[in-house]
Amino acid sequence: MDGILLLDAEGNIVDVNSSFARMHGYTIDALLRMNLRELDTPETLALAPEKIRQVLAGETLGFEVEHYHQDGHILPLDVAASAMDIGGEMYVLAFHRDITERRRAEQELKRSQQQLRGLSKAANEALEAERRRTARELHDELGQSLTALKMDLESLRHDLPPGQPELGERALAMHALLDGTIAATRRIAADLRPLMLDDLGLAAALDWLTHNYSKHTGIATDLVIDDSVAQVPEPIASALYRITQESLTNVAKYAQATTAEVRLERDGDWVQLAVRDNGRGIEAADQDKRGTFGLLGIRERVSLLGGEVSIAGEPGRGSEVRARIPLAAADAEAVA
Ligand SMILES: Nc1ncnc2c1ncn2[C@@H]1O[C@H](COP(=O)(O)OP(=O)(O)OP(=O)(O)O)[C@@H](O)[C@H]1O
Ligand SMILES: [Mg+2]
Repeated sequence: MDGILLLDAEGNIVDVNSSFARMHGYTIDALLRMNLRELDTPETLALAPEKIRQVLAGETLGFEVEHYHQDGHILPLDVAASAMDIGGEMYVLAFHRDITERRRAEQELKRSQQQLRGLSKAANEALEAERRRTARELHDELGQSLTALKMDLESLRHDLPPGQPELGERALAMHALLDGTIAATRRIAADLRPLMLDDLGLAAALDWLTHNYSKHTGIATDLVIDDSVAQVPEPIASALYRITQESLTNVAKYAQATTAEVRLERDGDWVQLAVRDNGRGIEAADQDKRGTFGLLGIRERVSLLGGEVSIAGEPGRGSEVRARIPLAAADAEAVA
């Protein structure tokens, strides 16, 4: 049962029902000697005169307030208030519903969302570090050994005794196999994480990515980079690289586009990335498809860095994924 309260224009409590009294831990008699001011927390009190004024002017309002319970704890309440004419005098009639449980559930949800955020951030960082380590290992250890092996094989071929062409042919085949293995090692390392991102920075890595992408997909891809953001620091650089990678992959998978554009710009203290295509256009419904993680991952990465994402598409006129990240995110480790 709702707690019912009748107030005069000055906030004096004129009548309450037993639910209202029980909710607040007072007797009805005690409440009838009080002004609403004595129940309101400071935040609620600050808003009260305006609400009373609006209601007495004829508006019906719904809002949330906080009252002090008689034992001192704070009682969150949902209020529906309207004016009531009693014998020519205007009063405020307000129905109160205890929303402690709802607040608790909301806070619990928020807390667990924050926990998940933290977890996903840590998982992302661990993944990136692991990829960096594996790519480095593949490139430096395996790649170098294979190259040394190739050089040894080269000199061995020269030293082969004449008159045994089948040995020469086998050596040649080994040589070709080694070349293929070296190329595969490079490719796997680069797919994991372009070492360029660490060694030469975001601009170089995006350049490599878009060239490679155009070559493999046949989608003509333009890269436009503002000089001032060519060297954005970690973790922004990794985030922007992965967002570009995912967006371009989506273009190749779904857009049926012939051209794409990656644009990296500075906008005040923000860095802005836009990936555009001229394809069929992302639809609103595509954006919350269950079981897909690409766009979700983009939103998550950006929100962890305190940035904003907008995703737009027009049928037949292409799509645009735009991410804006404050450059300050590079220094501030924990941006909630
Ligand atoms: N550039 C685009 N043009 C047209 N449709 C797109 C484009 N990018 C994404 N979509 C649509 O949006 C959906 C969601 O994309 P998202 O990247 O989240 O998921 P996915 O690519 O299907 O799966 P995942 O990325 O998890 O492998 C896609 O399934 C596709 O229908
Ligand atoms: Mg995807």
